[in-house]
Amino acid sequence: MFPTHSFSPLVIRGRQLLPVVQGGMGVGISAHRLAGSVAREGALGTIASIDLRHHHADLADECREDHSHETLARANLIALGREIAAARQLAGGNGMIAVNVMKAVSAHADYVRTACEEGADAIVMGAGLPLDLPDMTAGVDIALVPILSDARGVALVLKKWAKKGRLPDAIVLEHPAHAGGHLGVTDIADMDNERFAFDRIFADLDEVYASLGITRRDVPLIVAGGINSHEAVRKWLEAGANGVQVGTPFAVTEEGDAHPNFKRVLADATPEDIVEFVSVTGLPARAVKTPWLDRYLRNESRIRAKIGSIKLACPTGLDCLSMCGLRDGIEKFGHFCIDTRLAAALRGDVSNGLFFRGRESLPFGNAIRSVRDLLELLLTGVSRPAVAKRAAFALR
Ligand SMILES: Cc1cc2nc3c(=O)[nH]c(=O)nc-3n(C[C@H](O)[C@H](O)[C@H](O)COP(=O)(O)O)c2cc1C
Repeated sequence: MFPTHSFSPLVIRGRQLLPVVQGGMGVGISAHRLAGSVAREGALGTIASIDLRHHHADLADECREDHSHETLARANLIALGREIAAARQLAGGNGMIAVNVMKAVSAHADYVRTACEEGADAIVMGAGLPLDLPDMTAGVDIALVPILSDARGVALVLKKWAKKGRLPDAIVLEHPAHAGGHLGVTDIADMDNERFAFDRIFADLDEVYASLGITRRDVPLIVAGGINSHEAVRKWLEAGANGVQVGTPFAVTEEGDAHPNFKRVLADATPEDIVEFVSVTGLPARAVKTPWLDRYLRNESRIRAKIGSIKLACPTGLDCLSMCGLRDGIEKFGHFCIDTRLAAALRGDVSNGLFFRGRESLPFGNAIRSVRDLLELLLTGVSRPAVAKRAAFALR
């Protein structure tokens, strides 16, 4: 377990945790190894639920032989169950293991059910309003953590959930101007809006909490996006956050579940390499401008004009999203297969992959370090010399 630091613990459903949370990162970037290693140190580690079959050679083989939707969907649920079990074993009873589920994913209810059945400690839901999450988990002792970006969204979820007799066990506030992956804003031009500023949200929520008769002890707030140093952790914990969530810096740790090339792309990216664009979900997203994304963005308007409004068959057969710009012919959305691109990034295919990344520089520059080193730097400001180089990526 992690040594001494000076911050108050983050308390979720009665469990005392380090106040640094590892954010869920799909496809396969945060699987059992990263989440389990983070939990082992006494923090909340998160498995991203989407499309985990890519980490399991036997399931990937089955899916190559039969790529019907049923086989792919079943393989993903088996993979999620295996990843939860392996993460729990690695954690050894420390910390918490969460499962991140994106509401925009068509199988979200199946992922939630599997997370509950396989003994995850928490469900963290973003990419859409998780208004029905309490119903999906009724009768299960599991922490529920929505991801939102402004006080209005938080107030809405708190009020709707209160009517169902449930409060979130914590809320992640993700800042669209800094975070990696899909961003909680409809228009890229709006991402610097003042309503996403954490201190403004804290102030607005003081009134909302008071009107509902609840306190931060009931629903702690965790801020996410661009938190990349001990100073930033201190700043936000002192400004009123109960915890911070970190994504990109964990993705590039030794224990991160992606191929080493994935980590190199993220760690070596300069500010000019990091771009925002419209994803097939219709939401803006942030990633590194690697060869495929560069090509896609240069041709985006031509692609839109040509196939933007044409409905196409899902190229993988998984139909991963409830609404997909490519499959459903939604012109203003993105037009590429996100599952294929993210899976290519996971296996280190720099030419063809889509590499999500937050906007800010990394705590260890472009060095790949361990989860323990990262937590120590963020929580204490101490950066020890690197000691071990472990190979991280393995298709099991
Ligand atoms: C590679 C990558 C994949 C991500 N995938 C997801 C995801 O599947 N679901 C989700 O809710 N957030 C996802 N995120 C967001 C992170 O969980 C986290 O909140 C965010 O990256 C925090 O910003 P930071 O990267 O600057 O620390 C992803 C981020 C990255 C960098």
